Amino acid sequence: MSYEGVPAVHGASFRVEAGEIVALLGANGAGKTTILRALVGLVRPTRGEVLLFGRPITGHPTEAIVRLGVSLVPEGRRIFPGLTVFGNLEMGATPWSGLGGDISGELEQVLALFPHLRPRLGQRGWSLSCGEQQMLAIGRALMARPRLLLLDEPSLGLGPLVVRSMFQAIRETNGRGPTVLLVEQNGAMALGIAHRGYVLEHGRIVLEGDAQGLRANPRVREAYLGA
Ligand SMILES: Nc1ncnc2c1ncn2[C@@H]1O[C@H](COP(=O)(O)OP(=O)(O)O)[C@@H](O)[C@H]1O
Ligand SMILES: [Mg+2]
Repeated sequence: MSYEGVPAVHGASFRVEAGEIVALLGANGAGKTTILRALVGLVRPTRGEVLLFGRPITGHPTEAIVRLGVSLVPEGRRIFPGLTVFGNLEMGATPWSGLGGDISGELEQVLALFPHLRPRLGQRGWSLSCGEQQMLAIGRALMARPRLLLLDEPSLGLGPLVVRSMFQAIRETNGRGPTVLLVEQNGAMALGIAHRGYVLEHGRIVLEGDAQGLRANPRVREAYLGA
């Protein structure tokens, strides 16, 4: 994947099996966001393929990929600040419901996961704290009924307590269905809930393994676990 001819990610090959939480770790600028953008068709790979459930989706329009069951929670949350919490969640459901469809089942599931959002349904997006915005961004993605949930640095800018409950919610979400690809700089938290992981450096996968193995790896400990 490249930006105006400048390569950002080179042949990063990885797989995510149904039901897994897979962590993709890497420092700032490693190419994590670029990979997620390529998976949902926002960046077109110059070479290589993206397979979803065994079928190629390379170059498919983003909307089609979302309809196939892939939801991205973007870096920086990107909620709609002028819409209410309910309005944001409703937008997440549009791929299958259109606006005005019955979204009550999905809504209840999201509110069960993030009860904190329930009393805030009528509040505007801008008035939420960063942690609440992250809950809303994840909730919005879940409204689309994803089979694969892509999370881009959900812990960024959040305090340790909020991060802990966020990761708890991610694990709980995964337990109820969607496969999760979790992009993080916070390796300790990510490997705490992931089954497997990959380490990306300068646009290349340099390490991979099960979460336990990666947590014990000296190179990972030094670079990503603050050991
Ligand atoms: N829109 C863009 N235009 C040009 N270069 C970009 C753009 N977005 C990212 N890059 C570059 O691509 C590389 C990977 O960036 P990114 O995927 O955002 O990394 P990460 O998410 O791991 O921090 C970096 O060198 C970054 O500067
Ligand atoms: Mg990024």
